[in-house]
Amino acid sequence: MKKIRKAVIPVAGFGTRFLPQTKAMPKEMLPLVDKPIVQYVVENAVDAGIEQIILITGWHKRAIEDHFDTHFELEAKLAAAGKEKQLSEMRRISSLAEFIYVRQKEARGNGDAILTAQAVVGDEPFVVFWGDEFMTTEGNHKVLAEGEVLMAAKPLSCTEQLLSAYEKTGATILGGLRTDKEEDTLKYGYASGEELGGGLMKVDKIIEKPGIGNAPSNLATLAGFIFTPDIFPALKRAAGGLKDGQELVYVDGLNVMLSQGKEVYAQEILNAEYHDCGSKLGYMKTVVELGLRHLEIGEEFREYLRKLKV
Ligand code: UTP
Repeated sequence: MKKIRKAVIPVAGFGTRFLPQTKAMPKEMLPLVDKPIVQYVVENAVDAGIEQIILITGWHKRAIEDHFDTHFELEAKLAAAGKEKQLSEMRRISSLAEFIYVRQKEARGNGDAILTAQAVVGDEPFVVFWGDEFMTTEGNHKVLAEGEVLMAAKPLSCTEQLLSAYEKTGATILGGLRTDKEEDTLKYGYASGEELGGGLMKVDKIIEKPGIGNAPSNLATLAGFIFTPDIFPALKRAAGGLKDGQELVYVDGLNVMLSQGKEVYAQEILNAEYHDCGSKLGYMKTVVELGLRHLEIGEEFREYLRKLKV
């Protein structure tokens, strides 16, 4: 089984839900206290052993490349001012991984963004995370049954859970979360199939945004993915069947794979908190949650919220 070394992170979308903020600034660069959203996404991949980060960008996304690059002038200034802590943080960010940027010529859907990575990914399995959402599993303790707590120590991260499901199956893995919120059926893909235990499911059906009352299960596939290179020809084939102006989404490629008898699994990500920073409300919730956990400002922020009268 090939080791997974590469992560593809599409960041080329227009972020229309966030206009006018995203007219000149990438949504993925919105701050969560003092770090942009996309840095959390990258760190979650790198912490699980991913070595190469392939960002799918567009002409309006230069700020993301600059963020992960070396900034000589800033580093020299910080060094001269003796600001060692900030200096080492700047150096840490640019050396997190090997960064590769590939441009998606037009924002033609998340499936098209994945396809754009083909030449760089080659014949290897790889992970995919969207650039505007991530999961945290730190500090959550999920009670499975009365008195039974899943873990006491540090829980496995979302990426680690995906990698572990891949090690078991050697096949494509869709990260999932259980949700019974009707409005989620308008936003996410849903998978159904045979439950294999431990949150693993052998998928026989996946529907993109099924709509209220039509979801085949309550497992939304939104938490990162592992794709085998089979996804590339499948996406190409699916692209051939699209009408003019229709976007290519990852689910189109998965449906081609399923129709060819290829194995696809879904792994429910356990003990997870999902941060959907692509929507205004999801973003604001994440700012508050991470602000409350922030080492420098957390305590004062909590106190401020407690006293807030609006
Ligand atoms: P979203 O659908 O959340 O992003 O895609 P969007 O299209 O930018 O947002 P809205 O719906 O208009 O507000 C999830 C991730 O996939 C990227 C986006 O940049 C985002 O990080 N994406 C989406 C691409 O890279 N290319 C695309 O064609 C579409």
